Amino acid sequence: MVELPKEEIEKIDRMTPAEFVEYFKSINKPHFDRHYRYGYEWITKADRGAIISWLRQGTWNEWAAAAVVAKLVKEYAEYVDPEFYPIFARQVADEARHWLLRHRLLKRYGGSMEGFTPIEEWVRVFELPLKLALERPDFFQLRFTSALQVVEWTSVSHHRGVEDGAGDRYPEIRALFRELLDDELFHWSIAERTWLKMCNTLEAKLDVIRITQEYTLATIDAARKKRVELSMEHKI
Ligand SMILES: [Fe+2]
Ligand SMILES: [Fe+2]
Repeated sequence: MVELPKEEIEKIDRMTPAEFVEYFKSINKPHFDRHYRYGYEWITKADRGAIISWLRQGTWNEWAAAAVVAKLVKEYAEYVDPEFYPIFARQVADEARHWLLRHRLLKRYGGSMEGFTPIEEWVRVFELPLKLALERPDFFQLRFTSALQVVEWTSVSHHRGVEDGAGDRYPEIRALFRELLDDELFHWSIAERTWLKMCNTLEAKLDVIRITQEYTLATIDAARKKRVELSMEHKI
């Protein structure tokens, strides 16, 4: 269980689901700011090889996102609230399109996916959603979104950092992120929508906090850091 003072737990207990979503964003703001900084600092020092390296992992990430949500749609439909089924199905198509766009940009920079092996920490990012969801079937969708769609919120922050740090130097990257932004915000909203519907007990709210703090945010932090570091050495 999350180690929270008794008064904090009582406060969370009294929150409506909508208040809880706002609370979640406010307590985790330092994490999102950190992902912004990783992006901002990285692009100010990155050369072409670093960008290629970084895009290789990014291209794989889009495929991995499409694959894990497709698996949810195909194999775990009975765990998904029917209202959300078309939303997850749309996400599969979005991620497949992102894969195409990122791959196109990678090629424009002179890169390819040849000989690519994903960073272990990123493999873990995409393994967590189903693993954690299956450990608690009654919280399946709550956990899936706490693991996957929360990552997408950190990605939005990271991309904003890259965009701001790049200034006018890389208009192609800016154009790509503009193209992805609305979709990624929509994907994050799948978590918000899920929590609005399902975070109506203290147990559900505390589970979201525990899963995100113990697993999602810790894992994505390690993955993001490794990606920017290895890309600087052109090692991805
Ligand atoms: Fe995506
Ligand atoms: Fe996404």
